[in-house]
Amino acid sequence: KKVVLAYSGGLDTSVIVPWLKENYGCEVVCFTADVGQGIKELDGLEQKAKASGASQLVVKDLTEEFVKDYIFPCLRAGAIYERKYLLGTSMARPVIAKAMVDVAAEVGADAVAHGCTGKGNDQAIITWTVRFELTFFSLNPELKVVAPWREWEIQGREDAIEYAKKHNVPVPVTKKSIYSRDRNLWHLSHEGDILEDPANEPKKDMYMMSVDPEDAPDQPEYIEIGIESGLPVSFNGKALSPATLLSELNAIGGKHGIGRIDMVENRLVGMKSRGVYETPGGTILFAAVQELESLTLDRESIQVKDSLALKYAEMVYAGRWFDPLKESMDAFMEKLTEKTTGSVTLKLYKGSVSVTGRKSPNSLYRQDISSFEGSEIYNQADAAGFIRLYGLPMRVRAMLEKGI
Ligand code: ARG
Ligand code: SIN
Repeated sequence: KKVVLAYSGGLDTSVIVPWLKENYGCEVVCFTADVGQGIKELDGLEQKAKASGASQLVVKDLTEEFVKDYIFPCLRAGAIYERKYLLGTSMARPVIAKAMVDVAAEVGADAVAHGCTGKGNDQAIITWTVRFELTFFSLNPELKVVAPWREWEIQGREDAIEYAKKHNVPVPVTKKSIYSRDRNLWHLSHEGDILEDPANEPKKDMYMMSVDPEDAPDQPEYIEIGIESGLPVSFNGKALSPATLLSELNAIGGKHGIGRIDMVENRLVGMKSRGVYETPGGTILFAAVQELESLTLDRESIQVKDSLALKYAEMVYAGRWFDPLKESMDAFMEKLTEKTTGSVTLKLYKGSVSVTGRKSPNSLYRQDISSFEGSEIYNQADAAGFIRLYGLPMRVRAMLEKGI
């Protein structure tokens, strides 16, 4: 019997290793995913895992896959949860959980375990669990799932330290942040502490990916994003891989204080929660991609797309990444944005990103037709008949009301 454990090197996951061995008598393979969270001491991590009793540590760099196959589809879909949240944490769960399923197959494990324990409150743990377990179920229904926090006696940090000492597991010295945070290449989220009162303004020193817009450069900066079939492909004319493109935009967006989002959201399990997000590069990309659609999509396509985007975002938030409905919506979005190719220029200035220009070889905008100068195709004389017919239902209703 072998189990793959989602491992971070922190206290909770370190304690799970001996706990799994003791309670399940199984070999423990630790797994760490790199999704751009900034893994500290990657070198020391393997020794640490082994010191806790793991047979090996598998590390996978998922950054390109995360951006290309998870972030970009959400971007193309225009998925925004509750008007503001760009889904940074929600999108990262399925890519990590899928990698765990793959690692389990590679090492011949029959179970996976997750180390979500001390993430603060129960609501957070449940959300985390739903997102992971729904992915496990969808990709390998035969895999056993062990969630130690559902079974064990360990309560809180003191208990965990004691358990670690009893099992000769070195206690990691990580200083606990006062905020509950989650970071990856797309975003950084902050919850807890003074943020729990939605009336409190976040402290200036809380932010990590972006400067305060007030301290951003006094000179605006213009950038150009190239887009192909609804997906970003270049920055200032340079073709870049998805993850590189996003990192560069994070740097420049962060410098200009772009992408801070402060909101109260409805958690998966119903209660409300206040969170603050930093999504500098993502905010720029959303502005660019949505803008190009104004040239390439017609009215009804945009309406249908936007209405589906709501459902899409809700499903991603709820951990239903591998749900056939969500996958079908991806197929729809891919087809609909096939012709969304071109470029958008944006001006970054003190926390704002404004579009200053857009171009597309597939533009439905025709200056010769739209121009105020008048043209052949759009004939003024056609208008009178059109308006009479277009307004017919309204006239009929008014006639009825007036008894005509
Ligand atoms: N509320 C967001 C979500 O459910 C972000 C959660 C991130 N976790 C955290 N501990 N800050 O997707
Ligand atoms: C998650 O990490 O996926 C959700 C946890 C949270 O809501 O903080």
